[in-house]
Amino acid sequence: MPQLGFGVFQVPDAQATDAVTTALQAGYRSIDTAALYRNESGVGRAIAGSGLSRDELFVTSKVWNSDQGYDSTLRAYDASLSRLGLEFLDLYLIHWPTPERDLYPETWRALEKLLADGRVRAIGVSNFQPAHLQRLFDEFDVVPAVNQIELHPRLQQSQLREFDAAHGIATEAWAPLAQSAVLDDPVLTAIAQRLGVTTAQVVLRWHLQVGNIVIPKSVTPARIVANIDLFGFELSDDDMKQIAGLDQSRRIGADPDYVN
Ligand SMILES: NC(=O)c1ccc[n+]([C@@H]2O[C@H](COP(=O)([O-])OP(=O)(O)OC[C@H]3O[C@@H](n4cnc5c(N)ncnc54)[C@H](OP(=O)(O)O)[C@@H]3O)[C@@H](O)[C@H]2O)c1
Repeated sequence: MPQLGFGVFQVPDAQATDAVTTALQAGYRSIDTAALYRNESGVGRAIAGSGLSRDELFVTSKVWNSDQGYDSTLRAYDASLSRLGLEFLDLYLIHWPTPERDLYPETWRALEKLLADGRVRAIGVSNFQPAHLQRLFDEFDVVPAVNQIELHPRLQQSQLREFDAAHGIATEAWAPLAQSAVLDDPVLTAIAQRLGVTTAQVVLRWHLQVGNIVIPKSVTPARIVANIDLFGFELSDDDMKQIAGLDQSRRIGADPDYVN
């Protein structure tokens, strides 16, 4: 899986085609969508029109909470594929554990079936806490390839990252820019000024150096292009220490234990 990809949360279906087309032209090869986003068709149109072959792309989608359960997840997977116009996904995730529903184990069983049947290349989870992961380890054979979680300089998730790593799970950061809430932080803007890059580039480069998979979203062509231009500079140990100091364990999104 590419370490750097493109997210499309809150992008309306009609706009998703332009945004993903711009992203693919800029060099992104990994696209993160979800049934919830209601833009899989728009993403699919961009993929179909890109001229890229399927094996050059890495496409992720997610099963939504109300579709959890064995049969309903299998149906949701087919519906996502049909909207995307694809024959398989590279990665299919359980969007939230929704512990009160108590259906994520059955949902995982469906993902294992898709994997065993060769219908998806990898399966994973999103917003899973250690207790949810532990239940999967206890009851199932396949360990999630990825845990996609809210992660940015104000919510660095060190313990969950360590837990993921200890079990061979790659951590993927959603809201890597904290939905732009960290972009006026004085520590980050000072580093950006010194290096002659944008604050968003500093934050995304920090993710890469920490080892996170990262999927920034933008519908602004200049930002889409800049957000992938991260390989001409490096953050120093001192920069990394300063950014480590910005952690406030503060979420912008919901607490996964209470989403249903
Ligand atoms: N699994 C989950 O539960 C979950 C939840 C949320 C998100 N996600 C995934 O993670 C992806 C990224 O998260 P996100 O979309 O919530 O937030 P994000 O990527 O942290 O931030 C997106 C916001 O930042 C702005 N932005 C992007 N690049 C910028 C730049 N260079 N300079 C200034 N502003 C910039 C965008 O504005 P413009 O678009 O106006 O340019 C947009 O408002 C999503 O798209 C989705 O694929 C997953």
